[in-house]
Parts: sequence; structure tokens; C-alpha cells
Amino acid sequence: MSEKRPPLEGEVYYPSPEVVAQARVKDWEALARRADEDLTGFWAAEAEELEWYRKWNRVLDDSDKPFFKWFAGAQCNIVHNALDRHQKTWRRNKLSLVWVGEKGDVRTYSYFALHRDVCRFANVLKAMGVRKGDRVTIYMPRIPEIAIAMLASAKIGAIHSVVYGGFSVDALQQRIEDSESRVVITADGGFMNGKIVELKKTVDEAVKHAPSVETVIVVQRTGHEVRIEAGRDYWYHDLMKLPLAQPVCATEVMESHDPLFILYTSGSTGKPKGLIHGHGGYMTGVYSTLKYVFDIKDEDRYWCAADPGWITGHSYIVYGPLLLGATTFMYEGSPTFPYPNRWWSLIEKYGISILYTAPTAIRGLMRFGESWPNRHDLSTLRLLGSVGEPINPEAWRWYHRVIGKGRCPIMDTWWQTETGMFMITPTPVVPLKPGSGTRPFFGQQAEILDEKGDPVPDGEEGFLALKRPWPAMALTVYRDPERYKNLYWSQYPGKYMAGDSAKKDKDGYFWVIGRTDDVIKVSGYRLGTAEVESALVSHPAIAEAAVIGLPHEVKGNAIHCYCMLRKGFKPSEELADEVKAHVAQHLGPIVRPEKVTFVDSLPKTRSGKIMRRVLKARAQGLPEGDLSTMED
Ligand code: PRX
Repeated sequence: MSEKRPPLEGEVYYPSPEVVAQARVKDWEALARRADEDLTGFWAAEAEELEWYRKWNRVLDDSDKPFFKWFAGAQCNIVHNALDRHQKTWRRNKLSLVWVGEKGDVRTYSYFALHRDVCRFANVLKAMGVRKGDRVTIYMPRIPEIAIAMLASAKIGAIHSVVYGGFSVDALQQRIEDSESRVVITADGGFMNGKIVELKKTVDEAVKHAPSVETVIVVQRTGHEVRIEAGRDYWYHDLMKLPLAQPVCATEVMESHDPLFILYTSGSTGKPKGLIHGHGGYMTGVYSTLKYVFDIKDEDRYWCAADPGWITGHSYIVYGPLLLGATTFMYEGSPTFPYPNRWWSLIEKYGISILYTAPTAIRGLMRFGESWPNRHDLSTLRLLGSVGEPINPEAWRWYHRVIGKGRCPIMDTWWQTETGMFMITPTPVVPLKPGSGTRPFFGQQAEILDEKGDPVPDGEEGFLALKRPWPAMALTVYRDPERYKNLYWSQYPGKYMAGDSAKKDKDGYFWVIGRTDDVIKVSGYRLGTAEVESALVSHPAIAEAAVIGLPHEVKGNAIHCYCMLRKGFKPSEELADEVKAHVAQHLGPIVRPEKVTFVDSLPKTRSGKIMRRVLKARAQGLPEGDLSTMED
């Protein structure tokens, strides 16, 4: 047990006796040891807690690395475990989803009701011609129908591709095109900060250039007028009224590694890549991590405040909680609308017991001071969580003291779209250090390597790598397996290269520092410099552009653009504003640059590659490093 170890170094928060008393796993070190010694045994036991149409022949087939096959030979469907199986138990009467709109409207779904609506919508999709393996793009606000659409697609074996509603035309179009979706599911709009987000308009623009799209299904959320194109666009509520929208729908039998969804994420180069996750391994990994880390119990009301459009929402708003038969809470709007107590009032009113959010949200709310949360009774909270970027110790302490009242351990979970599930994370009884995700999850081993692949000494910065396969690992990059292999598995043979820099301390705790590639984490959102740069050069005034991320107090990082103008254009404040608006219009408001600087030249290598690290060093007044490859 932890108290027999030598004391840990630094600022350490040990679990209280109350936390230990409640925890599902009290001796986490013993379980970690067992999982370490018998990786496949650990995961087979986790998988046994779920239902399978046919059991596996092998827990892990690693004959075609890095395309690992978890639960090879097994048949299942994640929706069977998320919804169908609960219909046989008392859980059919339990709340699966409590949803609150920004305007204060409330909708609740029992497991019975959610299953019924998912079946009905699955029948609608089938009637629209959607078959196993077809791709369905989902572009929606945070409303229950986003979960219904995901689950209905998965139920009939279709592959969903959710595009975050904060993205705009270009980003959406690219993702629809790459996935060759036949159907797009959207809404007339969503509410955010008291305003309507025009989702349908964006879809209209995006599908103009996406010939694969035959059908657009529109959920009515705002009720404002939108264009409905006859023969292509259908209202969700009209379709759900048709006799074919029966509340019974067989769940498709899938092979364990059949694709469940595509989720596009920004990489260092070119187009965003479509990571594929499958049914069996993903389901097992997400179920197990959420069970151990957030220690979900039947009496919990669990709120992951992310958006379903990102991996956090896929794994830990939609699939994870339902797999566990938990009650998940979803809120449509912004944390500060109409006042900065919105979240705290929701926690009080709905008795939330677990809150999982991002450092940027905590920093944003911290700015308004303690009086906002202090006006609310937050005593139902028992666990807190953080994800998306490193949490700075000041924000960690504030979250712990002001929101958790010093009682609630903070689960700082490090993971990625690619990993599908938590990779470096505490469980509630692990002693915490503010800013560290502590140690790898059961069965995982991580290390910090130099460029050649040798471990760096404790306390030194290096590249974060994972040593062992895990069940929720991505299957591949959609239609580009070579890219998957090269990006993640070629740098260090046999190991997964995460693309993050990190340190490990003497106690074996990991401290993630940030990305090592051209990915910028803005408010926890993952954005690629390449996408922003191509939006910039699509502006008529801009000849060439380079984009870097620089530290920002609330957002973590902000986008800074360096642009070379075409002949005939002159730098001005107005032009800079216009360029910012141009990027926001093309990619989405979350991608709006912080600053646009006009330059006469960009630092490049002799082979013509832009040296972003030099721009970054210059902007921060740091040494520019090795310039031997720079052109004259
Ligand atoms: O840099 C790491 C950061 O987010 C990246 C993954 O981004 P994405 O695929 O969008 O997934 C985010 C949600 C899982 C990582 O490479 N990151 C994520 N969680 C943490 C983090 N950095 C530090 N601490 C974390 N807890």
C-alpha cells in the first residue's frame, strides 16, 4: 500500500481516508503489478465484464504490428453493451442522460427511452439506405440527438464521423469528402453565449462540394428559418414520426476490430487524418478506464463538460458512461452564460458528483474569482478531472481548493484521439502532484526517450513513448495505413510515439510539457498549423504564411500568424483584422488567430521548409538554436 513507500518528492496530495474508503480499488499498486505481469489476463478479465456475441480466440493478436488486433475472433457491438443489455435489468428505468440547454430547457432519458429513440433513428437511417460500413457525418450542437445519432449509426454497423460544431465550412467539407459520407446529420443551429450557431448554413456550403452526400437530416433546435432542399434535406422530427421509425431494431453483429467511428484530428502535415476506432477493443478500454479512474457508481451523476465532437466526448460523454450504466449529464452552452456561475449552479441543481473538464475552462472561470462558485453548494462533488493540455499548478490548486473544497482528488488524465482511452492517469487513491498525470494506467508502461530512442535521465525533457499495446488503440488512419505506421510507430520500433514532450521524476511520475510537432493546443482543442496556413493563403492578399502557437493565459496557447503579402497589398490593422475573420469564417471561431503579423520573409531551410521553431524562438526572445540548415 502507498503508505509503506518512502515519501514522495515535491508538493504531494495524499488521498484522505474518506476517499480511500469509497474507492473501488484501494491497493492500486497491487492491481498495477498484476496487470503489468499479465497484460492480456488483465484485459481479458475486463472484457469478461461486458457481453459478447462470440468470445475471442486470442486476447491480443500482434502478428501484424502495429496493427494490433484486440479480442481477435470475437463478435460484439458497443451499442449492445451501452444500451441493449441494460434493458434486461433495473437500469432500464435509470436515467442515462440528463440534458440542459443554454436557455434552461431540460430533457431526461431513461435507459429505456434512449434505447427506444436510438432504435427508431437507426430504422430511419436504414430506410435512408445506410448500411454496415457506410460513413455518416454528424455535425451538431451539444444536444441529446448527437448521442442518438452516434449510437444509431453504430447500432446498424455504420461508421460515424463527428465533426465538432465549432468548426466551419472548409474543415467540415474536407472531413465529409475524405470520409465519403452519404448522410450528414445536423441541426438548424445551436445556442452558444445567447446566440445561434448557424450549423445548417455551414452544412449547405460544405456539401456543395461534397458529391457523396445524398441526404441531410436536420434536427430542429433553434426553430429559426433555414433552407431545406427538397429531395436532399429532411427534418429529423418528420422522419421520426414515420411508421418505419419502429422502436425495435436489431443490433448489427460486428467483428471486434470492425470500425466504429472515424475521428479527424490535426497532424503535423497536410490534411487532418481520420483515426479509426473499432468496436471490441475500444469498448473494453473505455469501459475499464472510466470505471477505475472516475470510479463511477450507480448513485453518481457524472458530467464530462467536453464536446461530443472530440475524442473526450466520444469516449467519456457518450460511450463510457453508457457502458457502465451511469447517469451522464450534458449541457449545451457556455460556462459563463449568462453569468460566470452557470456551471456551479448546474452542479448544485443537478447534484453532480464528478466533474471532468479542461484546464482552459478552469483558468477561464478562475478569472471571475471565488465568489461565483462560493455562492453555490458544491458538496455533492466527490471527484474532479482534467484533460486536454497540461494543467498549471495554480489552476490545479484553485480547482482543488475552491471547487473540490480540498476533498476531491483531481484525475489529470493524459491521452489522445489516437489512444481512445486514458493512458497516464491516477486513480482516486493515487497520491497526486499538481501538474502531473502521475503514472501509466494499469498494464501500460511509458518512457521518456531522446531522438535516438534511448531513455533520458529522470528529470530531463524528452519524447513521450508508450511501450505496450492497449485495447482502445486506434486501428489505423482511414484509407492510409502507411501514414498510421509512419507517424506513430516508425520513430522508435515497437513503441508508440505520442508526439508530446515530457519528463519523468524520481518517483516515476510523468509531467507532460506539450506537443513536439506542428499541432497547437488552443483552449485544449487540437489544431494543425497546416490547416490554418492553407486558410491564410486562400485570402487574396496573402502569398505565404506560417503559424505558431504562443503561450496564452487562458487558452494555454494562441495562434500567431506570420504572413507575406502579395504585390499591391500593404500591411494595416484593418487587413490583419480581415485576415483573422477570414480564418474564423473558413475554419471556425475556435481557430481565430490571436495575432497576424506581416513580414517580408519567413525563415526557411534550404529545401524550402518553414522553420516555425525559429519564429517561435524569436517571438519569445529565446535563443534561435541550430541555424545551419537555414537558407541564406
Ligand atoms: O499534448 C497532449 C494533450 O492533448 C494531446 C491530445 O489531443 P487530442 O487528441 O485532441 O485529445 C485530447 C483529449 C484526450 C496530447 O498529445 N493532452 C491531453 N491530455 C493532457 C494533455 N497534456 C497534458 N496533460 C493532459 N492531461
